[in-house]
Amino acid sequence: MTIINNASLKPFNTFGIDAKAQSYCDISTIENLISVLKDYHASPLFILGGGSNMLLTKDIEALVLHINLKGIEVISETDHSVIVKAMAGENWHNFVVWCLEHNYGGIENLSLIPGNIGTAPIQNIGAYGVELKDVFVSCEAIKIDDQSVKTFSKEDANFGYRESIFKQDLKDQYIITSVNLELSKTKHQLYTDYGVIRNELDANGITAPTIQDISKAVITIRQTKLPDPKEIGNSGSFFKNPIISAKEFSELECNFPDVPSYKISDDAIKVPAGWLIEKAGFKGKRFNDYGVHKKQALVLVNYGNASGKEIFELAQLIQKTVKRLFNISIETEVNII
Ligand code: EPU
Repeated sequence: MTIINNASLKPFNTFGIDAKAQSYCDISTIENLISVLKDYHASPLFILGGGSNMLLTKDIEALVLHINLKGIEVISETDHSVIVKAMAGENWHNFVVWCLEHNYGGIENLSLIPGNIGTAPIQNIGAYGVELKDVFVSCEAIKIDDQSVKTFSKEDANFGYRESIFKQDLKDQYIITSVNLELSKTKHQLYTDYGVIRNELDANGITAPTIQDISKAVITIRQTKLPDPKEIGNSGSFFKNPIISAKEFSELECNFPDVPSYKISDDAIKVPAGWLIEKAGFKGKRFNDYGVHKKQALVLVNYGNASGKEIFELAQLIQKTVKRLFNISIETEVNII
């Protein structure tokens, strides 16, 4: 186990920001993790997973622990379902592909989401009508300060829309080392209600889709709307979709009758932040080496050598403009470091 000083984090964040870590350590075994925590738990630490949901606005004055624990195994199964344990450092999409190869269903709608297994529960990743919580059984985590191991059930994790206990009460206290998910082996429950998925399946003449067909449809949709971080730096949706009250929504609808919406409850309506940002005139806007993606206004991009500070300033300008025009506050989904 080597600790490298003054390491560039550019290869380890999908925004491709060239920030430096005071020191950096690649963690590939639980033993290494426990040993480094024993020595350094009282020092400033920064836990890095897939680096796909953060914007580095400055250098990290801490020891960066890059969680690269690998392994996927079936831990139990019945005729109809299987519980798979995946280690935190496995790439999320590679895991989805592995499940599809084994014909395990439940996460096909979550194809091509960037990031790693270990960070998926932190923000309860979701897309096209499915969230991680729908298949989550438990996760194992190590407490940073005393290195004890704890198993969190679905209830313990307290999932919400892009939320969990790991972002709230237990922020920065635990390192997730593995996740157990329950997936179907037969009679897969398919989620094809999302208009874009239905349209994509129809366009290909697929009337009785398999989980593999759904994954292909999701991949096609994502590839047409979302930039590939290998080509253009980004962190997916930069903002969360705001949830507003029925009263606020009726005022908004009065001024903007074409506003799309999704009813969550009688007094909670989700409005697509991408629509608000597009209406505010930011879609496709480029400033120097950064800007707003031209096909999805919710995504901020780094065309090459932008700094995290520049992107953060653009995010703040977008938030202010949306507030001024629509009186709606939009929160960042990405962690600002
Ligand atoms: N829209 C616009 N302009 C835009 C973008 C969106 O008008 O530039 C409007 C359209 O009316 C569209 C609606 O917003 O119908 C919804 O757009 P989309 O289906 O692309 O979904 P989203 O709400 O923008 C959310 C997730 C995505 C996820 C998709 C599909 C959040 C913050 N984002 O985006 O997640 O892939 O739904 O389920 O909830 C991510 O978290 O990184 C991410 C990409």
